[in-house]
Amino acid sequence: MNQETTIPLGRLPKDYRMDMGPAMARCYEEYGPIFRVAGLVDEYIFVVGPEANRLVLHTHREAFSTAIGWGEIQGLGEQLGNGLLSMDGAVHADHRRMMNPAFAVSQFGEYLKVMHRNIDACVADWAARGSVDIYEEARKLTFAIAAETLAGLAPGSEVEQFAVMYAQLLDLRHVVAVQGRDAAWRLRRDTLWDRLRGLLLPKIQERRDHPRNDALGLLVAAQDRDGQALSDEQLIGHMNTLLVAGHETSTSLIAWFLYLLSQHPDYLARVREEQELVLGGRQQASAEDLQRMKVLGYALSETERMYPPIPNGARGVLADVPFRGHIIPSGAKLFYSIVGSHYLKEVWSEPDKFDPDRFGPPREEDTRTPYALVGFGGGPRTCIGINFAKLEIKALATRLLRHYDLEALPGQDIRQSYDVSVAPIHGIKLRLTLRA
Ligand code: HEM
Repeated sequence: MNQETTIPLGRLPKDYRMDMGPAMARCYEEYGPIFRVAGLVDEYIFVVGPEANRLVLHTHREAFSTAIGWGEIQGLGEQLGNGLLSMDGAVHADHRRMMNPAFAVSQFGEYLKVMHRNIDACVADWAARGSVDIYEEARKLTFAIAAETLAGLAPGSEVEQFAVMYAQLLDLRHVVAVQGRDAAWRLRRDTLWDRLRGLLLPKIQERRDHPRNDALGLLVAAQDRDGQALSDEQLIGHMNTLLVAGHETSTSLIAWFLYLLSQHPDYLARVREEQELVLGGRQQASAEDLQRMKVLGYALSETERMYPPIPNGARGVLADVPFRGHIIPSGAKLFYSIVGSHYLKEVWSEPDKFDPDRFGPPREEDTRTPYALVGFGGGPRTCIGINFAKLEIKALATRLLRHYDLEALPGQDIRQSYDVSVAPIHGIKLRLTLRA
């Protein structure tokens, strides 16, 4: 018998996209850490659990192509151009090296100033309105922060103009789901890219003439291993990827984070106690303050575990890889299941329960098993924006929770969808009340 056929054929429940973590964990129990799933056109291999994550992200990572996974299977290359997610091997390593300075700790003081300014304005607006869909609002906030810090856009109308363009760029994904990447889709994409190019090229030229310290400026100044600067097209591919990856995922995590805290008042009281302890009378938290807020950090990790914004990481398999008595065959399309790994009973005690203390001593359920928590990926290709995202989310939560009580409006259907859109399916509406 062909080795490939020995990988069990799994069956996912019809509505698994609305309950993906528990559904994947049940598959793990039934079929083991590797199984095949028949899609409409193709067959996919799913691997689930820390051991599989370690294989894909670390020990055998060279056999698993992110460029094929995200660039081709998920179509990011055609949607956004070539960013880090559409690259592999030496080219990826070189471009990641060029991008690293934009995500160095030394940048975070400046980024945090932009974060605080945007957060203050948004929170004042939300409070004035009384109740808001936190998912929709967080999207505006995270985009504005990414646009200012990464692309150096001017707050206000310039950011808003780009926000519209990037919303359309994201929307291309929904259009693919309906009509595929046909000629009309490509025309729409090309028109959009032309307009984005028209907006971004002057920004690039500006930085060539007058070097600046935002991510775009640092990338414009960078040189590849042959001493060459990046071309306009390369810079635009990176910017598109950063501006999309830099706000969509954070938006979903913020919405769930604030919602979960609003549902767990006892834990929230501990978060506030910690805030008082760390900040004392100070209004604004520094990056170091936010780093010291462990109780807040555990709740964020728990939200990442329960509602990871990226449910599965896509890979193209480049060489046969043995795993648990099977051969993962070269040419296969594979997903390492982030959300499935986060709901395994053998790794997490009571995985369906919101229990941030699992991350603190003495339990430390995440560090006890390496590659158990992979909401930001892992290994050398861990999310480049992990610290940026955590800083932004913690800064927002600190500002908001210190001054406002949050309450979910009654009668909502609050569920995460892992379909074409990865988001709470009907948003999450929260009421803000000034604390006494
Ligand atoms: C809550 C927020 C975020 C989450 C949950 C998240 C999640 C992830 C995950 C899971 C990966 C790895 C995918 C894989 O292994 O297949 C990844 C990679 C990446 N992320 Fe994030 N991300 C977040 C925020 C950001 C931000 C703020 C930025 C940029 C400003 C960013 C930029 C990237 C880039 C460029 C990569 C590719 C890295 C590489 O391949 O070297 N992400 N992210």
